[in-house]
Amino acid sequence: MEVVIVPDAKAGGELIAETIAALLSRKPDALLGVATGSTPLPIYQALAAKVRSGAVDASRARICQLDEYVGLPAGHPESYRSVVLREVVEPLGLSEASFMGPDGSAEDVQAACQAYDRALAEAGGVDLQLLGIGTDGHIGFNEPCSSLASRTRIKTLTEQTRVDNARFFDNDITQVPHHVITQGIGTILESRHPVLLATGEGKADAVAQTVEGPVASIVPASALQLHPHATVVVDEAAASKLK
Ligand code: F6R
Repeated sequence: MEVVIVPDAKAGGELIAETIAALLSRKPDALLGVATGSTPLPIYQALAAKVRSGAVDASRARICQLDEYVGLPAGHPESYRSVVLREVVEPLGLSEASFMGPDGSAEDVQAACQAYDRALAEAGGVDLQLLGIGTDGHIGFNEPCSSLASRTRIKTLTEQTRVDNARFFDNDITQVPHHVITQGIGTILESRHPVLLATGEGKADAVAQTVEGPVASIVPASALQLHPHATVVVDEAAASKLK
């Protein structure tokens, strides 16, 4: 596992946008797995700026979602489909056709999960998977004690994650869904290059356990230690509990 410490979130965003730019110049139709939440925003902003300036041609890039809430009505502004369209697909000038995600409103959610794993494989696999990390060490929405071999499936969010995410729902926890579809840890480990960004002091414990703790399902992100080419980018605050 490669660990890179950067001064702040903006520098982390720049560094990862550079990595994506290099990938797109080698493989213009690369499949980029994207996370939502606050952490990756500096990456998307830096990448969109490169596209606008002409430094990066992302016109053939393909985008896929890491996870999705279950049960939000289609078009809900906080469904991750809406978020990824707003924060990634549109700013990069891509069309909706270049974008895939699990169907959180499917009647048969289990079938939708299996279909999504198949679709990722049929698309040739994820070239670079962006990840954030939960304060409890989750990646995607693989909460503590998720199987390290798990596939895309429905998961129940912990109370802590619902509290953390209430800020996207007018600080009203009752509006935060209880269930999500998430790529499994096994699915994430199949990506060719998982890249985790963690910023802020609130992530320092989770980062220390991910990087320096044992590989254990209680800290799902620690599974990245098993990947031959995983990168963890942390700002100084998130790195503050590393030895
Ligand atoms: C979201 C996701 C989550 C977040 C994590 C951190 O698609 O997969 O694992 O990355 O909850 O969220 P933020 O970045 O908002 O602290």
